[in-house]
Amino acid sequence: MAKILVVGSGAREHALAVALAGHDILTAPGNAGTLSVGRNADVAATDVPGLVALAERERVDLVVVGPELPLTLGLVDALEARGIAAFGPSKRAAELEGSKVFMKRFAKRHGIPTAAFEVFDDAAEAKAFIRREGRPLVVKADGLCAGKGVVVATSVDEAVAAVDRMMVDRAFGDAGARVVIEDLLPGEEASFHVVTDGTRAVALVPAQDHKRLSDGDRGPNTGGMGAYAPAPVVTPEVARRVMDEIVAPTLAGMRAEGAPLRGALFAGLMIEDGTPRLLEFNVRFGDPETSVLVPMLDGDWHALLAGAARGDLSQVHVGTRNGACLAVVLAAAGYPASPRTGDVISGLPSAPADGTFVFHAGTARSGDAVVTAGGRVLAVGARATDLAAARALAYEVVSRISFDGAQHRTDIGHRALG
Ligand code: AMP
Ligand code: GLY
Repeated sequence: MAKILVVGSGAREHALAVALAGHDILTAPGNAGTLSVGRNADVAATDVPGLVALAERERVDLVVVGPELPLTLGLVDALEARGIAAFGPSKRAAELEGSKVFMKRFAKRHGIPTAAFEVFDDAAEAKAFIRREGRPLVVKADGLCAGKGVVVATSVDEAVAAVDRMMVDRAFGDAGARVVIEDLLPGEEASFHVVTDGTRAVALVPAQDHKRLSDGDRGPNTGGMGAYAPAPVVTPEVARRVMDEIVAPTLAGMRAEGAPLRGALFAGLMIEDGTPRLLEFNVRFGDPETSVLVPMLDGDWHALLAGAARGDLSQVHVGTRNGACLAVVLAAAGYPASPRTGDVISGLPSAPADGTFVFHAGTARSGDAVVTAGGRVLAVGARATDLAAARALAYEVVSRISFDGAQHRTDIGHRALG
């Protein structure tokens, strides 16, 4: 039995903790769900010195880093400097997610298909470019903005306003000092994850997220309101092309540039007529995607994560389970603008029924009760023989859980199921 520290507090981290159950699990800072798998430690996911001290004090064998921010702050480098194995990329490799300018220029250097783009560090030049092009474009702040730094403009004026907000008003601080302006890609999106040791890549089941708050892909963008897998838009041929045209050149390119990537590589794809193009890279597992990746993996999560951390996946053999999996996010009142916390959650199953799961995100214990403590509160779902059955079972579990102001979509999986 290994001693494992999971860093983060979302449904992704609860799902990973469950995937690693049977080992001695410590989560920092965790949530009410991770408490039922192991212990929580009150150290923030962004507190690099605090996490290193915790890992040393607890003599953990492996640290699994969930969110991007500690990766871009150099948590894995700091752990490895102390001889502690960690799942996740170095600070330099995390630039693939941490800087859109780095990612776009890297893709161009290595011939990876992505939208044509320009980089600007001057607002007047950016706006002049948009007016000259005279068509709707996508404006992206260079740095991390918790998923809010991308504007898919529907008009020239909207693109210009996005530049003003990011570069002049500095709505995202220094993250908006530079912007990428790129072409709008048509097609259908998918989330493609691999686990890598720097050289080998183990592909996980292709998934699809639902970024908008409301049914029919309407309303504001969120961190993700639900996910399912497999996503039929990623046919076996598309998956092969993603591995050959995006994943392989990325791993080779990062090695050649002296920053080999270890951990998770999550390619956000746009797929048009069977051709995959790269929208963005994340160097961590997606959330809510992890809630469906975990139940769908046929194999040992500890061997997979520890193998990647060690830099050797040659002995790790995993596959994908039959059937399909679907997860629905229950979000707090006021999410995403200003989520309310402290609402009591009722109807949580003491043990999820066969094939179903309730992964906690923004939850906390308050006496005997479990209360809301963040924007996305739970990821509730099921794995079943096919996607329609998984959806029916997932929504049955959703219907039993309630809290004041709860919001959820009723159409997760619609692209595959209609
Ligand atoms: P990102 O934060 O890079 O994932 O972008 C957020 C969302 O914006 C993506 O999930 C897409 O829906 C959309 N998006 C980003 N770039 C493009 C693009 N070039 N063309 C069309 N949609 C895009
Ligand atoms: N679900 C999208 C993300 O984790 O970035």
